[in-house]
Amino acid sequence: MIKISPSLLSADFSCLTDEIKRIEHTADMLHLDVMDGHFVNNITFGPVVVSAIRNKSKLLFDVHLMITNPSQIILEFIKAGADIITIHAECQDELLPCIQMIKDAGIKAGISINPPTPLDLVVPLIREIDLLLIMSVNPGWSGQGFIPEILPKIREAKRLLNMDNPAAELEVDGGINAITGKQAIEAGATILVAGSFVFNSPDPDKAIGDLKRLSS
Ligand code: DX5
Ligand code: ZN
Repeated sequence: MIKISPSLLSADFSCLTDEIKRIEHTADMLHLDVMDGHFVNNITFGPVVVSAIRNKSKLLFDVHLMITNPSQIILEFIKAGADIITIHAECQDELLPCIQMIKDAGIKAGISINPPTPLDLVVPLIREIDLLLIMSVNPGWSGQGFIPEILPKIREAKRLLNMDNPAAELEVDGGINAITGKQAIEAGATILVAGSFVFNSPDPDKAIGDLKRLSS
């Protein structure tokens, strides 16, 4: 069954503990969007906040680093309690040493690519990763519309993973709702990130359930 990773970016940041409780029992993991004001224009939070909420949830922490130099801070996110750390293929660090640093700590490593970035950039790394994250919006903000032109890229990513790393997860992030979620699953997604669809719903548990049922 499809796994759902609600993005905390769409939650009410004045009461994160309560917001996490709203999704704790139905979500499979918690997606944490870290933005540095450089790789993307927006700024969110760092390891201090991840550490502060770590003991508020038993969910896997799925940390998405939209930052220019992840190597400088990966260890801090590991200490803060990340279970999965995903870096961007477009960042300015060497990717393989970052992936190795994450895996050496015994947690899972992911690579993400932005909508305009071709999959070619990640092909040499595909055997090294636990997760490939395909952005279906340009990163920076929640609440944007899914870019439908990304669907062939998701299908191609699935084909590449099936060939060289079938155990890896294929995560799709941005603009996911009941319609685009179904399209992403049909294209091969194994994890859906959903921010506004889950946290803006009056009943987040139901919104997660609705997404899960798309794969049954
Ligand atoms: C965008 C983030 C996403 C975003 C998803 O840069 O990486 O995780 O919060 O939010 P929605 O589901 O509202 O597009
Ligand atoms: Zn994200």
